[in-house]
Amino acid sequence: MEILKIKEGDIEISIPENEKLSGKIPFFNPVMKFNRDFTIAIFKVKRFLDGLSACGALSIRLKKEAEDIEIHSNEISNETLKFLRQNKEDNNADIIIHNRDLNLLLNEDANFDFIDIDPFGSPVYFLSNVLLNARHNAIIGITATDLGTLCGRFGDACIRRYGTFSSKTDFDKEFGLRNLIGYIAREAAKYEVGIEILFSYYFMHYFKVYFRVKRSRSRTDETLKNLNFLLYCDISMSRKYIAFEDIGTENFCEQQQDEWGNKFKILGPIWSGKFADENVCDLLSKEVEEKTEQKILTLVKEEQNILVPYYDLHKFCKINHIQIKGTDDIIKITSFFKRSLKNPGTTVSGLRSEISKFDNFEIANENKFNAARTHFDGKGLRFNGDAKELLEILK
Ligand SMILES: C[S@@+](CC[C@H](N)C(=O)[O-])C[C@H]1O[C@@H](n2cnc3c(N)ncnc32)[C@H](O)[C@@H]1O
Repeated sequence: MEILKIKEGDIEISIPENEKLSGKIPFFNPVMKFNRDFTIAIFKVKRFLDGLSACGALSIRLKKEAEDIEIHSNEISNETLKFLRQNKEDNNADIIIHNRDLNLLLNEDANFDFIDIDPFGSPVYFLSNVLLNARHNAIIGITATDLGTLCGRFGDACIRRYGTFSSKTDFDKEFGLRNLIGYIAREAAKYEVGIEILFSYYFMHYFKVYFRVKRSRSRTDETLKNLNFLLYCDISMSRKYIAFEDIGTENFCEQQQDEWGNKFKILGPIWSGKFADENVCDLLSKEVEEKTEQKILTLVKEEQNILVPYYDLHKFCKINHIQIKGTDDIIKITSFFKRSLKNPGTTVSGLRSEISKFDNFEIANENKFNAARTHFDGKGLRFNGDAKELLEILK
């Protein structure tokens, strides 16, 4: 077997050459560097479990880059374990290696203040045990790479694995992340555990969610308030959250049609709260170096004020037969409306020319709208109005 040496952060590790990206034994994925960077940056902790560690890239980097931390590195495959042991030795990294099924390990010792779970595919097989056993205030990092199922491409698999109704949407990546967080919250609630979301994001082929475990009945109830169904119409691209308690009420029956009388689909339940804490984004941005990582942090931070899933602007313009406008144009317009509200005396002359095409827009609506870009999609626009209001702005 050919061995390849890979450098990442302050370490160099060995991996088998032909199996670095795929194959039966998933040894190492260089694309997951951001995942490891954020995990290392996220918090200074004392006792860390790298639950599915493969060749040890995360564990060994963490030992080298963070001080005074007890690191446990667990890997079930004997073949992969050889590389983990070799890498530990080559890097002179004082980590504790386990060769266990993670679910068994978590039932014996989950007394860690950070547990990272980075499987190939879905994390559902490990969530029950980590949520049952992790201690109060522990930080949990969960990776998911089964994007097809989470994002609504495989409806049956989504029902089986996550117990949620899904469909193709124009905001599929956001649906996927909210679907995953919603599942974690419901799974946690079984054990009277609430979750405090620290930071989550989408990148290339995976989702990552970092949250804090809150062992408290009241925190569990509070967490569950962030779960909602989502009404979505793929004809008009209309979307709105609907609370659990509204299902079956008269109000709900009325809401089953969008602003144009089209029928809504019911998706979810999904997470409808913030998917990142803005303060954590600030903390992380002081720690990570790569430009792309900084960009993700800036966008994730900016988009937390608007919880309704983003609109695919190109698709929205296309279905409404209007000229495509850039996301930045719309943000300029909506932020202008906001500014004029804060300073009622502000004349519109500066921006008026830029937005002359929007003059027909009702002045009464000026204070209502907010817009932001999104890290999920370069042509995505977060907008706090409904589809009809967005159309008014774009026309
Ligand atoms: C995606 S890889 C982990 C990659 C690693 N975190 C990194 O940053 O390079 C998942 C690893 O989990 C291991 N694994 C799968 N099921 C396991 C289980 N039940 N218990 C422990 N390890 C397991 C696999 O052998 C594989 O090496």
